[in-house]
Amino acid sequence: MSNKNEEFRPEKLLPEEYIHRLEIFNGFAQEAIRQAIHHLGLFPGCEILDIPCGIGKHACWMLEENEEAHVTGVDISEEHLAYAKKLLNDSPVRGSISLEQGDMTDLVFADNTFDFVWCCNGLWVGDPAMGYLASEPYQILGELKRITKPGGKIALIYSTNRKFLPGHPLLESVLSATFACHYLPVNAKISPEFNIMRAPLWLNNVGLEQVEAKSFVADLQGPFSQEELPKMASMLDIFWGKAEGEISPGMWKQYQSLSDPDSDDYIFRLEGYAGSITYTMFTGVIA
Ligand SMILES: C[S@@+](CC[C@H](N)C(=O)[O-])C[C@H]1O[C@@H](n2cnc3c(N)ncnc32)[C@H](O)[C@@H]1O
Repeated sequence: MSNKNEEFRPEKLLPEEYIHRLEIFNGFAQEAIRQAIHHLGLFPGCEILDIPCGIGKHACWMLEENEEAHVTGVDISEEHLAYAKKLLNDSPVRGSISLEQGDMTDLVFADNTFDFVWCCNGLWVGDPAMGYLASEPYQILGELKRITKPGGKIALIYSTNRKFLPGHPLLESVLSATFACHYLPVNAKISPEFNIMRAPLWLNNVGLEQVEAKSFVADLQGPFSQEELPKMASMLDIFWGKAEGEISPGMWKQYQSLSDPDSDDYIFRLEGYAGSITYTMFTGVIA
């Protein structure tokens, strides 16, 4: 196995590649994300900040959960926002939503503006010189706290686990332990304190109350449609497509065969296929 992990960097993607990934990933994770949104307890007239809002799927689902809520979606990417605008215009969902370009590290909202802050797969801690958002989470969380009303809730949601290869636990464990798999949140140089599973500590440290962690699962169950089958391969590629240098050649060959839609061994054509994606929502309430 290679030892180049110390230099592993977050991937730089073209906007269309990034959008494609967000479409695929949100498509399969939808069940878990909708459950997490339901768990938030949205109420009529509530003000929600969705940051970073990416391609706007979650904002749509929030309005489906409560059409009398108001969502402000913020993202730094013009392309993602343009996609989100089209998605919302084309969607049958009616409700109040505004989309704005903005930077999570430089929040311009007034104090006590929001009842809920929803930050999904957004607060990634690491060396900014390597492309991460911030070297520690506390400054951004302090700002999110400032713009949230007393009694309001901040939710950090992350994709924390996944099971894609039933029957191949060793291969799956090895692939999941690669740095390529954790293309965003984990890096050899990041302190364990800043691993996403330590988010309750971050929320405690900025003075939030009633800090909780709750996980939600999206089941992946076959048989998959002809349209879904290639998308499943793209999803594997998101996590493990760059893992070759970190695992043995034999294991890589086995992975290639299981992940190739044209192979007889393609895992998603397995009779009785079952897998899952887990999202964990970490919440805290403003005193
Ligand atoms: C992994 S995506 C998550 C998007 C969405 N929350 C979701 O789960 O589908 C991360 C998003 O963060 C945005 N982003 C990156 N840096 C940002 C920053 N400094 N401020 C605001 N958005 C940022 C990217 O454009 C991208 O849309």
